[in-house]
Amino acid sequence: MDGNITRLTAAATASAPALLLRPWNPADAADLVDLYRDGALRRWASADVHDRAGAAQWVQDQQGGWEAGHRFAFAVSEVREHAAEGRLVGHVVLKNVASGASSAEVGYWTAAHARGRGVAPRALKALTDWAFAAFAGHGLTRLELLHQADNTASCRVAQKCGYELSSLLPAAPPAFPLEGHSHARARDL
Ligand SMILES: CC(C)(COP(=O)(O)OP(=O)(O)OC[C@H]1O[C@@H](n2cnc3c(N)ncnc32)[C@H](O)[C@@H]1OP(=O)(O)O)[C@@H](O)C(=O)NCCC(=O)NCCS
Repeated sequence: MDGNITRLTAAATASAPALLLRPWNPADAADLVDLYRDGALRRWASADVHDRAGAAQWVQDQQGGWEAGHRFAFAVSEVREHAAEGRLVGHVVLKNVASGASSAEVGYWTAAHARGRGVAPRALKALTDWAFAAFAGHGLTRLELLHQADNTASCRVAQKCGYELSSLLPAAPPAFPLEGHSHARARDL
């Protein structure tokens, strides 16, 4: 998988511009620091992004995931008319990919300024379709989505994208002090 050329899109809707999904790159580090100045993001999508150095390391880790072939993270931006790419609005990731393994995991977040406009579900649908198509030959048939039980916004994203609740996960403090939901979606055959 080539992290320099993989691009995904989600079509515009009546009320929202199209989305472009492309691998994160070092030029995103400053924007990433700004986006992480948000309590919900820090709480639900914990990553060590507190300053420019942390953001640069995080981007480097995402690039390393593409190179290693086990983690595929995409920056999500809005595409406005006459602009190649608009501002960053989110992140989706396919992770824990292993050749021959039938399942992998997805994750996502939306920038605070863009929440409530369907960004995460539209981006996750694009990622889901791509993942099942790109990794069908590797045996991928199931995608999992985990969230803490009180993250109702994330639960809604799962439901909107056809990820059914499959089991309850016990709390695992300190990272996960409350029980969680495991949702799953099977590849259409
Ligand atoms: C969960 C999250 C990704 C949803 O992204 P989104 O692009 O806002 O998704 P949607 O627009 O479909 O909204 C999903 C739900 O968020 C809630 N919501 C709506 N407007 C909102 C707003 N302005 N701010 C926060 N949440 C809002 C609603 O419950 C909505 O469900 P509904 O459409 O049935 O009313 C986003 O809230 C987020 O990034 N949260 C912090 C990080 C996180 O929790 N990541 C997931 C970890 S498992």
